[in-house]
Amino acid sequence: MAASAISILRCPVCGAAGTLSENGRSFCCFGERSHTYDFAKSGYLNLSRSQKSGGDGAEAVCARSAFLEKGYYRPLADRVRELLDRFDAQTVIDAGCGEGYYTARMAREGRTLLGFDLSKPAVDHAAKRMKHALNTEKTPKSTALFAVASLFELPVADACADAVVNLFAPCAESEFCRVLKPNGVLVVVGAGKNHLMGLKRVLYETPYQNQPRADLPVSMKPIAREELTFQTEICGQADIDALFSMTPYYFRTSRSDRAKLAALETLTTELSFDIFCYRKEENAP
Ligand SMILES: C[S@@+](CC[C@H](N)C(=O)[O-])C[C@H]1O[C@@H](n2cnc3c(N)ncnc32)[C@H](O)[C@@H]1O
Repeated sequence: MAASAISILRCPVCGAAGTLSENGRSFCCFGERSHTYDFAKSGYLNLSRSQKSGGDGAEAVCARSAFLEKGYYRPLADRVRELLDRFDAQTVIDAGCGEGYYTARMAREGRTLLGFDLSKPAVDHAAKRMKHALNTEKTPKSTALFAVASLFELPVADACADAVVNLFAPCAESEFCRVLKPNGVLVVVGAGKNHLMGLKRVLYETPYQNQPRADLPVSMKPIAREELTFQTEICGQADIDALFSMTPYYFRTSRSDRAKLAALETLTTELSFDIFCYRKEENAP
Protein backbone atom coordinates (compact mmCIF):
# COMPACT_ATOMS: atom_id res chain seq x y z
CA MET A 1 0.00 0.00 0.00
CA ALA A 2 1.58 3.28 -1.08
CA ALA A 3 2.45 5.94 1.45
CA SER A 4 0.56 8.56 -0.59
CA ALA A 5 -2.78 6.94 0.27
CA ILE A 6 -1.97 6.02 3.87
CA SER A 7 -0.73 9.52 4.73
CA ILE A 8 -4.10 10.98 3.75
CA LEU A 9 -6.13 8.69 6.03
CA ARG A 10 -7.36 9.82 9.42
CA CYS A 11 -8.55 7.62 12.26
CA PRO A 12 -12.36 7.61 12.25
CA VAL A 13 -12.41 7.52 16.07
CA CYS A 14 -9.85 10.15 17.15
CA GLY A 15 -9.00 11.89 13.88
CA ALA A 16 -5.24 11.20 14.18
CA ALA A 17 -3.04 10.44 11.20
CA GLY A 18 -1.50 6.97 11.10
CA THR A 19 0.78 4.52 9.40
CA LEU A 20 0.93 0.93 8.20
CA SER A 21 1.76 -1.71 10.79
CA GLU A 22 5.13 -3.43 10.41
CA ASN A 23 3.60 -6.46 8.73
CA GLY A 24 1.59 -4.17 6.40
CA ARG A 25 -1.71 -5.76 7.40
CA SER A 26 -3.20 -2.91 9.43
CA PHE A 27 -3.55 0.84 9.56
CA CYS A 28 -2.53 2.10 13.03
CA CYS A 29 -3.26 5.62 14.18
CA PHE A 30 -0.75 7.81 16.02
CA GLY A 31 -3.39 8.83 18.59
CA GLU A 32 -2.99 8.09 22.31
CA ARG A 33 -5.00 4.89 22.00
CA SER A 34 -3.30 3.64 18.82
CA HIS A 35 -6.54 2.56 17.13
CA THR A 36 -5.84 -0.24 14.67
CA TYR A 37 -7.79 -1.28 11.58
CA ASP A 38 -6.99 -4.52 9.78
CA PHE A 39 -7.12 -4.81 6.02
CA ALA A 40 -9.70 -7.34 4.82
CA LYS A 41 -8.46 -10.21 2.66
CA SER A 42 -9.45 -8.32 -0.48
CA GLY A 43 -7.44 -5.31 0.70
CA TYR A 44 -10.04 -2.79 1.94
CA LEU A 45 -10.26 -1.13 5.36
CA ASN A 46 -13.35 -0.73 7.47
CA LEU A 47 -13.18 2.88 8.68
CA SER A 48 -16.87 3.25 9.35
CA ARG A 49 -17.85 4.79 12.66
CA SER A 50 -20.97 2.67 12.71
CA GLN A 51 -21.03 -1.05 13.49
CA LYS A 52 -24.13 -1.47 11.33
CA SER A 53 -23.61 -2.17 7.68
CA GLY A 54 -25.32 0.24 5.32
CA GLY A 55 -25.53 1.22 1.69
CA ASP A 56 -26.28 -1.23 -1.10
CA GLY A 57 -26.68 -4.93 -0.32
CA ALA A 58 -24.78 -7.79 -1.98
CA GLU A 59 -27.53 -8.49 -4.51
CA ALA A 60 -27.67 -4.89 -5.79
CA VAL A 61 -23.86 -4.79 -5.93
CA CYS A 62 -23.73 -7.98 -8.02
CA ALA A 63 -26.41 -6.80 -10.44
CA ARG A 64 -24.78 -3.39 -10.95
CA SER A 65 -21.37 -4.88 -11.34
CA ALA A 66 -22.51 -7.45 -13.90
CA PHE A 67 -24.23 -4.73 -15.92
CA LEU A 68 -21.44 -2.16 -15.77
CA GLU A 69 -18.80 -4.72 -16.78
CA LYS A 70 -20.64 -5.08 -20.11
CA GLY A 71 -19.50 -1.55 -20.93
CA TYR A 72 -22.87 0.11 -21.58
CA TYR A 73 -21.84 3.09 -19.42
CA ARG A 74 -18.25 3.18 -20.64
CA PRO A 75 -18.60 6.61 -22.34
CA LEU A 76 -19.43 8.10 -18.94
CA ALA A 77 -16.42 6.44 -17.29
CA ASP A 78 -14.20 7.75 -20.10
CA ARG A 79 -15.60 11.26 -19.78
CA VAL A 80 -15.05 11.37 -16.01
CA ARG A 81 -11.43 10.27 -16.50
CA GLU A 82 -10.94 12.90 -19.22
CA LEU A 83 -12.21 15.57 -16.83
CA LEU A 84 -9.85 14.42 -14.06
CA ASP A 85 -6.98 14.50 -16.54
CA ARG A 86 -8.00 17.95 -17.73
CA PHE A 87 -8.03 19.21 -14.11
CA ASP A 88 -4.69 17.43 -13.56
CA ALA A 89 -6.05 15.73 -10.46
CA GLN A 90 -3.38 13.64 -8.71
CA THR A 91 -5.29 12.67 -5.58
CA VAL A 92 -8.90 11.71 -6.25
CA ILE A 93 -11.61 10.64 -3.82
CA ASP A 94 -14.53 8.64 -5.23
CA ALA A 95 -17.26 9.37 -2.67
CA GLY A 96 -19.88 6.61 -2.86
CA CYS A 97 -17.66 4.51 -5.12
CA GLY A 98 -19.95 1.45 -5.16
CA GLU A 99 -18.18 -1.58 -6.56
CA GLY A 100 -15.45 0.56 -8.09
CA TYR A 101 -16.23 0.29 -11.82
CA TYR A 102 -15.65 4.02 -12.37
CA THR A 103 -12.82 4.24 -9.78
CA ALA A 104 -10.80 1.64 -11.68
CA ARG A 105 -11.28 3.61 -14.90
CA MET A 106 -9.93 6.78 -13.24
CA ALA A 107 -6.48 5.16 -12.94
CA ARG A 108 -3.57 7.14 -14.33
CA GLU A 109 0.16 6.74 -13.79
CA GLY A 110 1.01 8.40 -10.47
CA ARG A 111 -2.61 9.09 -9.48
CA THR A 112 -3.77 8.18 -5.95
CA LEU A 113 -7.36 6.96 -5.80
CA LEU A 114 -9.38 6.60 -2.63
CA GLY A 115 -12.84 5.03 -2.84
CA PHE A 116 -15.30 5.21 0.05
CA ASP A 117 -18.72 3.63 0.36
CA LEU A 118 -21.02 2.58 3.18
CA SER A 119 -21.62 -0.82 1.62
CA LYS A 120 -19.19 -3.55 2.66
CA PRO A 121 -19.99 -5.85 -0.29
CA ALA A 122 -19.48 -2.93 -2.68
CA VAL A 123 -16.12 -1.94 -1.21
CA ASP A 124 -14.98 -5.57 -1.07
CA HIS A 125 -15.81 -5.87 -4.76
CA ALA A 126 -14.05 -2.59 -5.55
CA ALA A 127 -10.85 -3.69 -3.82
CA LYS A 128 -10.80 -7.04 -5.64
CA ARG A 129 -11.63 -5.41 -8.94
CA MET A 130 -8.85 -2.87 -8.67
CA LYS A 131 -6.27 -5.49 -7.63
CA HIS A 132 -7.24 -7.57 -10.65
CA ALA A 133 -7.13 -4.54 -12.96
CA LEU A 134 -3.71 -3.46 -11.73
CA ASN A 135 -2.32 -7.00 -12.03
CA THR A 136 -3.74 -8.17 -15.30
CA GLU A 137 -5.17 -5.36 -17.41
CA LYS A 138 -3.46 -2.51 -19.16
CA THR A 139 -4.40 -0.26 -16.27
CA PRO A 140 -1.96 2.58 -15.55
CA LYS A 141 -0.12 1.96 -12.29
CA SER A 142 -2.12 4.06 -9.85
CA THR A 143 -2.32 3.66 -6.11
CA ALA A 144 -5.79 2.77 -4.88
CA LEU A 145 -7.27 2.34 -1.45
CA PHE A 146 -10.88 1.44 -0.67
CA ALA A 147 -12.60 1.77 2.69
CA VAL A 148 -16.02 1.37 4.19
CA ALA A 149 -16.97 4.84 5.41
CA SER A 150 -19.76 7.35 5.17
CA LEU A 151 -19.20 10.05 2.59
CA PHE A 152 -20.60 12.48 5.17
CA GLU A 153 -17.61 11.69 7.45
CA LEU A 154 -14.74 10.86 5.14
CA PRO A 155 -11.78 9.46 7.14
CA VAL A 156 -9.22 11.70 5.44
CA ALA A 157 -7.27 14.87 6.22
CA ASP A 158 -8.55 18.36 5.47
CA ALA A 159 -7.52 19.76 2.07
CA CYS A 160 -5.96 16.50 0.85
CA ALA A 161 -7.70 15.92 -2.51
CA ASP A 162 -7.36 17.55 -5.91
CA ALA A 163 -10.75 16.16 -6.92
CA VAL A 164 -13.80 14.50 -5.41
CA VAL A 165 -16.01 12.45 -7.71
CA ASN A 166 -19.60 11.81 -6.71
CA LEU A 167 -21.47 9.54 -9.10
CA PHE A 168 -25.12 8.72 -8.37
CA ALA A 169 -24.46 8.81 -4.61
CA PRO A 170 -25.58 11.39 -2.04
CA CYS A 171 -23.76 14.72 -2.33
CA ALA A 172 -22.20 15.96 0.94
CA GLU A 173 -21.16 19.45 -0.04
CA SER A 174 -19.57 20.66 3.19
CA GLU A 175 -17.62 17.41 3.69
CA PHE A 176 -16.39 17.50 0.08
CA CYS A 177 -15.33 21.12 0.59
CA ARG A 178 -13.40 20.16 3.73
CA VAL A 179 -11.38 17.45 1.99
CA LEU A 180 -10.67 19.40 -1.22
CA LYS A 181 -7.52 21.46 -1.61
CA PRO A 182 -8.05 25.13 -2.44
CA ASN A 183 -9.00 25.21 -6.15
CA GLY A 184 -9.83 21.49 -5.98
CA VAL A 185 -12.64 20.23 -8.17
CA LEU A 186 -15.86 18.38 -7.42
CA VAL A 187 -17.43 16.32 -10.23
CA VAL A 188 -21.06 15.36 -9.56
CA VAL A 189 -23.00 13.09 -11.92
CA GLY A 190 -26.72 12.40 -11.97
CA ALA A 191 -29.29 11.04 -14.39
CA GLY A 192 -30.02 13.36 -17.32
CA LYS A 193 -33.59 14.26 -18.22
CA ASN A 194 -34.01 11.51 -20.82
CA HIS A 195 -31.94 8.85 -19.05
CA LEU A 196 -33.51 5.41 -19.63
CA MET A 197 -36.45 6.90 -21.53
CA GLY A 198 -36.61 3.76 -23.73
CA LEU A 199 -36.99 1.61 -20.61
CA LYS A 200 -39.68 3.93 -19.22
CA ARG A 201 -41.56 3.89 -22.53
CA VAL A 202 -41.87 0.11 -22.23
CA LEU A 203 -42.97 0.25 -18.60
CA TYR A 204 -45.28 3.25 -18.43
CA GLU A 205 -48.00 4.84 -20.54
CA THR A 206 -46.85 8.36 -19.69
CA PRO A 207 -43.10 8.29 -19.06
CA TYR A 208 -41.80 11.46 -17.40
CA GLN A 209 -38.45 13.14 -17.85
CA ASN A 210 -36.09 13.08 -14.85
CA GLN A 211 -35.66 16.16 -12.70
CA PRO A 212 -32.10 17.42 -12.08
CA ARG A 213 -30.47 16.32 -8.81
CA ALA A 214 -31.87 18.24 -5.87
CA ASP A 215 -28.71 18.04 -3.73
CA LEU A 216 -26.30 19.96 -5.95
CA PRO A 217 -23.75 22.18 -4.18
CA VAL A 218 -24.83 25.74 -3.51
CA SER A 219 -21.68 27.37 -2.10
CA MET A 220 -19.03 26.05 -4.50
CA LYS A 221 -18.25 27.75 -7.79
CA PRO A 222 -19.86 26.01 -10.82
CA ILE A 223 -17.24 25.76 -13.56
CA ALA A 224 -18.77 23.40 -16.12
CA ARG A 225 -21.95 21.57 -16.87
CA GLU A 226 -22.53 19.09 -19.66
CA GLU A 227 -25.03 16.47 -20.73
CA LEU A 228 -23.65 13.23 -22.10
CA THR A 229 -26.37 11.49 -24.10
CA PHE A 230 -26.28 8.47 -26.39
CA GLN A 231 -28.49 5.64 -27.59
CA THR A 232 -27.69 2.08 -26.71
CA GLU A 233 -29.09 -1.37 -27.28
CA ILE A 234 -29.25 -3.57 -24.19
CA CYS A 235 -28.98 -7.16 -25.37
CA GLY A 236 -30.63 -10.12 -23.68
CA GLN A 237 -32.95 -10.58 -20.72
CA ALA A 238 -30.08 -10.87 -18.20
CA ASP A 239 -28.71 -7.41 -19.06
CA ILE A 240 -32.18 -5.83 -19.27
CA ASP A 241 -33.03 -7.26 -15.87
CA ALA A 242 -29.71 -6.16 -14.35
CA LEU A 243 -30.25 -2.63 -15.67
CA PHE A 244 -33.82 -2.55 -14.37
CA SER A 245 -32.71 -3.70 -10.91
CA MET A 246 -30.24 -0.76 -10.75
CA THR A 247 -33.03 1.76 -11.22
CA PRO A 248 -35.43 3.29 -8.72
CA TYR A 249 -38.30 1.97 -10.91
CA TYR A 250 -37.43 -1.58 -9.79
CA PHE A 251 -39.24 -1.06 -6.49
CA ARG A 252 -42.10 1.03 -7.88
CA THR A 253 -43.27 -1.01 -10.86
CA SER A 254 -46.30 -3.29 -10.78
CA ARG A 255 -46.01 -6.95 -11.67
CA SER A 256 -48.01 -6.44 -14.90
CA ASP A 257 -45.72 -3.60 -16.01
CA ARG A 258 -42.62 -5.71 -15.20
CA ALA A 259 -43.99 -8.45 -17.45
CA LYS A 260 -43.73 -6.05 -20.45
CA LEU A 261 -39.99 -5.85 -19.87
CA ALA A 262 -39.62 -9.58 -19.33
CA ALA A 263 -40.95 -10.15 -22.86
CA LEU A 264 -38.08 -8.23 -24.52
CA GLU A 265 -34.90 -9.65 -26.00
CA THR A 266 -33.38 -6.26 -26.75
CA LEU A 267 -34.08 -2.82 -25.39
CA THR A 268 -33.12 0.36 -27.20
CA THR A 269 -32.85 3.29 -24.85
CA GLU A 270 -31.32 6.71 -24.37
CA LEU A 271 -28.65 6.95 -21.71
CA SER A 272 -28.22 10.48 -20.51
CA PHE A 273 -25.99 11.84 -17.75
CA ASP A 274 -25.73 15.33 -16.26
CA ILE A 275 -22.16 16.14 -15.31
CA PHE A 276 -21.57 19.12 -13.02
CA CYS A 277 -18.12 20.45 -12.10
CA TYR A 278 -17.46 22.83 -9.20
CA ARG A 279 -14.33 24.46 -7.87
CA LYS A 280 -13.51 25.07 -4.21
CA GLU A 281 -12.55 28.69 -4.10
CA GLU A 282 -9.11 29.60 -2.75
CA ASN A 283 -10.36 31.15 0.49
CA ALA A 284 -13.28 28.77 1.14
CA PRO A 285 -13.23 27.14 4.60
C1 LIG B 1 -26.31 4.18 -7.10
S1 LIG B 1 -24.89 3.62 -6.26
C2 LIG B 1 -23.59 4.35 -7.22
C3 LIG B 1 -22.28 3.67 -7.01
C4 LIG B 1 -21.16 4.15 -7.95
N1 LIG B 1 -20.81 5.52 -7.72
C5 LIG B 1 -21.57 3.92 -9.39
O1 LIG B 1 -21.98 4.91 -10.02
O2 LIG B 1 -21.48 2.80 -9.87
C6 LIG B 1 -24.91 4.64 -4.80
C7 LIG B 1 -23.83 4.23 -3.83
O3 LIG B 1 -23.81 5.17 -2.74
C8 LIG B 1 -23.56 4.44 -1.55
N2 LIG B 1 -23.99 5.28 -0.44
C9 LIG B 1 -25.24 5.67 -0.11
N3 LIG B 1 -25.22 6.46 0.98
C10 LIG B 1 -23.91 6.58 1.34
C11 LIG B 1 -23.22 7.26 2.39
N4 LIG B 1 -23.88 7.99 3.29
N5 LIG B 1 -21.89 7.15 2.46
C12 LIG B 1 -21.20 6.39 1.56
N6 LIG B 1 -21.79 5.73 0.54
C13 LIG B 1 -23.13 5.82 0.44
C14 LIG B 1 -24.32 3.14 -1.74
O4 LIG B 1 -23.85 2.10 -0.90
C15 LIG B 1 -24.05 2.85 -3.20
O5 LIG B 1 -22.90 2.07 -3.39
